[in-house]
Amino acid sequence: MQEHILTICYLVASVTFILGLKMLSNPAAARKGNLVAAAGMTIAIFGTIFLYHDAETGAGLHNLGWIFGGLCIGGIIGTLAAKKVKMTAMPEMVSLFNGMGGACAALISIVEFNHLSAEIVQSGVAAVSAGKILIIVLGLIIGSVSFAGSIIAWGKLNGSIKDFSFSGQNILNLFILAVTLGLGAYLVMQPGQSMFVYIILTLALIYGVFFVMPIGGADMPVVISLLNSFTGVAAACGGFLYDNKVMLTGGILVGAAGTLLTILMCKAMNRSLTNVLIGSFGGNKQGAASGNTAQGHYKEISLSDSAMLMSYANKVMIVPGYGLAVAQAQHICHELEKILNDKGVEVKYAIHPVAGRMPGHMNVLLAEADVSYEKLLEMEEANDEFKSCDVVLILGANDVVNPAAKNDPSSPIYGMPILEVELAKNVIVNKRSMKPGYAGIENALFFQPKTSMLFGDAKKVLQDLVGEIKSV
Ligand code: TAP
Repeated sequence: MQEHILTICYLVASVTFILGLKMLSNPAAARKGNLVAAAGMTIAIFGTIFLYHDAETGAGLHNLGWIFGGLCIGGIIGTLAAKKVKMTAMPEMVSLFNGMGGACAALISIVEFNHLSAEIVQSGVAAVSAGKILIIVLGLIIGSVSFAGSIIAWGKLNGSIKDFSFSGQNILNLFILAVTLGLGAYLVMQPGQSMFVYIILTLALIYGVFFVMPIGGADMPVVISLLNSFTGVAAACGGFLYDNKVMLTGGILVGAAGTLLTILMCKAMNRSLTNVLIGSFGGNKQGAASGNTAQGHYKEISLSDSAMLMSYANKVMIVPGYGLAVAQAQHICHELEKILNDKGVEVKYAIHPVAGRMPGHMNVLLAEADVSYEKLLEMEEANDEFKSCDVVLILGANDVVNPAAKNDPSSPIYGMPILEVELAKNVIVNKRSMKPGYAGIENALFFQPKTSMLFGDAKKVLQDLVGEIKSV
């Protein structure tokens, strides 16, 4: 009977994972989606703890003290970390947590291999199935690469690890990977050679470090998403190993979602995954920028003129970018929206899918300031509306509004879909200088006749702008 209830628990949990994922794709439902999936995970965990019984011996789970100790410690650390983390440090935390998932999968493989080794000593090699060892080895390699890579990505994002590469590194990486896989295959055929497990573990960890080390720090969100999919596959291996349906479903969903997100991010940046992994785009911005020459003259606009222009507009579109997140100016940005609304000006936000540095960065940032979801337009919708806008106010965005993506085939971002802000009547760009953004290239938009530059830190400029608009 308990076995059947446990199967129902797993079924319910699997359904909540799928529903949760679906809800995460809509900003208004995302918070609820997270809770739904977390509730499913809780059912799966407690169902396993209290209802699982070994098919042969009928024994339940042992070591309940350790299990609850681990649950409490992990639960407290996870809750505190998630409550404390700043929105801009979110990719770091995701990376660290993902690394822990990879480490768990690798540890499961080691523990299970040790169990198999004991079986081999007792009953001989023929007693263990090659399929089981294959899954153990796959979980070990993928989990270790994901763990080591995620820790390096975490270090790069918080600035404690610098980009590092040397000539021939990609070849060395391929060599290490080939040796690791070769030893893995050997272990599947000769499972008695138990010390190979530790050699494979070491090589997979080294590969994880070398794999992520040369990739530009700014490309880490794509790498983290890829490593996330690795962790999902490693967890799915655990599901196979224990014949645990919910672990399998969860792992496959994480693997598939991570892969899709990686592909979508690459598409939105118009880059191939290979280019992200072995090209150093975004890694050396200074170098990239110095190759470009100034494209002419730009004009500046004063705060009072900006305030006038916006106060007498019918419709203003705000384009948020990475600089808005850096300046933490989301609250004052919402304040600006409300003040303009009070003056009868319609205000909307144009959201580019890769604005900022992580998927959904701008949605999350603006949600933090209670900006209504209905005011956020996706790129295609926004591009249809720019022509009816009197003013576009660009706040710390650069690459996502760079027309080179449309009309300069030699540009590294050529082909990337962009927000076509130049269709509006006036464009005001707020940033601190003429320095390039993430792609390290100049932006011809800043030199166009319709564009005016409003220099300064986004928070300070918006505070002053709100003051000016109040007095118009
Ligand atoms: P960017 O092109 O990186 O431009 C951000 C601009 O913000 C900079 O030019 C900077 O100019 C300005 N800025 C920085 N701090 C500021 C502050 N305190 N106040 C005002 N302005 C400030 O950003 P974007 O337009 O959002 O584009 C995102 C880029 O990141 C794209 O190239 C995308 O491919 C890449 N990327 C995105 C993701 C995801 S998933 N979102 C992942 C990896 C890479 P100043 O220094 O002159 O102020």
